[in-house]
Amino acid sequence: MSHTPDFTLPDVEDFDSPHALFAELRSHCSVAWTEDLGGFWAVTRHADACEVLEDWRRFTTRVQNVVPPVATTQRRPPLHLDPPDNIPYRSALLRFLTPARLAAWEPRVKAMVDEHLTPLLARGEGDICADFSFTLPIALLAEFFNLSPKAAEEIRTVGAEFNMALQRQDFETLRERSDALYNLAAALIADRQANPRPPEDDPVASLLAVRVKGEPLADELVLGALRQFLLVGIIAPTTFIGSMAMHLSRHPEHHAELRDDPALVPVALEELLRLYTPYRGFARTATKDTTIGGCPVHSGDPVAVVFTAANRDPEVFPDPASYRLDRTARDLLTFGRGAHMCPGAPLARLLLREVLAQLTARTGRLEALAAPEMTRWPEYGPLSLPLRLHPLES
Ligand code: HEM
Repeated sequence: MSHTPDFTLPDVEDFDSPHALFAELRSHCSVAWTEDLGGFWAVTRHADACEVLEDWRRFTTRVQNVVPPVATTQRRPPLHLDPPDNIPYRSALLRFLTPARLAAWEPRVKAMVDEHLTPLLARGEGDICADFSFTLPIALLAEFFNLSPKAAEEIRTVGAEFNMALQRQDFETLRERSDALYNLAAALIADRQANPRPPEDDPVASLLAVRVKGEPLADELVLGALRQFLLVGIIAPTTFIGSMAMHLSRHPEHHAELRDDPALVPVALEELLRLYTPYRGFARTATKDTTIGGCPVHSGDPVAVVFTAANRDPEVFPDPASYRLDRTARDLLTFGRGAHMCPGAPLARLLLREVLAQLTARTGRLEALAAPEMTRWPEYGPLSLPLRLHPLES
């Protein structure tokens, strides 16, 4: 699976450089091969990304579903299974993400954002990632999965360490922390087996209650699914909140506009999710020799669907690098498309809307005190961003 390289990944990135690289690739070589990170095709156009995501027979998720490939032997559904095998795991989660369920979460999410933001506002400055966005999404997921306070604390610590090790590509710590997450998931399953709960009240009980042709799901797959659910929802929000803060620090006029008219927050969030799409490295593997956008791809080649690039494709989003609240097209790929489209998107949107609303309503402006330290593939966004949070003018 070696090809002539079309590009190499830079050693150092800043907040803007990935977008500059993707714009260049999209216009000159929209399906581009690199030998970096194990070798992969980067698909940067919106139409090509949709084609790959919608054709799971030609592009499977069973082999390599992220760039770089994270070394692990365990299979974690639903992301690691093609349809229809992934569906029972998705369904077990989706029943907790209906509009009625989310409406019930709203007051709690508001309170959690408040609890996490208030100490930072009181200090007047801090790292929006380390002091806020690394802990808030984990705290929310811990409640979503009805974890005991002790398990919630453990998962907060292990999840944050795993997240940081992944972002810094410290693979030894990553493996250790991944094992610790498996242990936490196994303990949670054992607890639900010993103390059953109604499947309609508890996501783990819901997973354990699934039957396919009358049979329960295989133990190791339930474990893998739980391990995936516990983590998949915390990584993107952590870096994306850093990107939102960075944007507001660069554009005090957008900050002021949202503070003066909070009704704009939902549409502003969609525009920020488009501009700073936090995932760029979810991948598939070609199951046969084929083409994408006219480019020949071999069977077995890894194909990264670069959501971060596709969401700035000028064919779908005119003037793609600008923040505009008047867009008519909002065909975002931030949460994927097709069989694996993110089931957690409504919960993520609820959390992120509340973060954007409180950040803009409760501060006069945000001032970046240093350039952000950036994450690497498969994510995009800040890992660290020291900020001054200016108070509202009285
Ligand atoms: C900003 C926040 C988030 C973003 C940008 C995001 C993005 C994505 C994307 C792009 C995929 C599809 C991956 C692919 O096709 O290969 C995905 C899958 C998934 N996401 Fe999210 N996600 C977010 C938050 C969440 C949350 C909060 C949860 C849990 C409540 C969650 C649970 C999942 C699960 C379980 C999958 C796998 C679905 C499947 O394979 O059927 N995500 N996410």
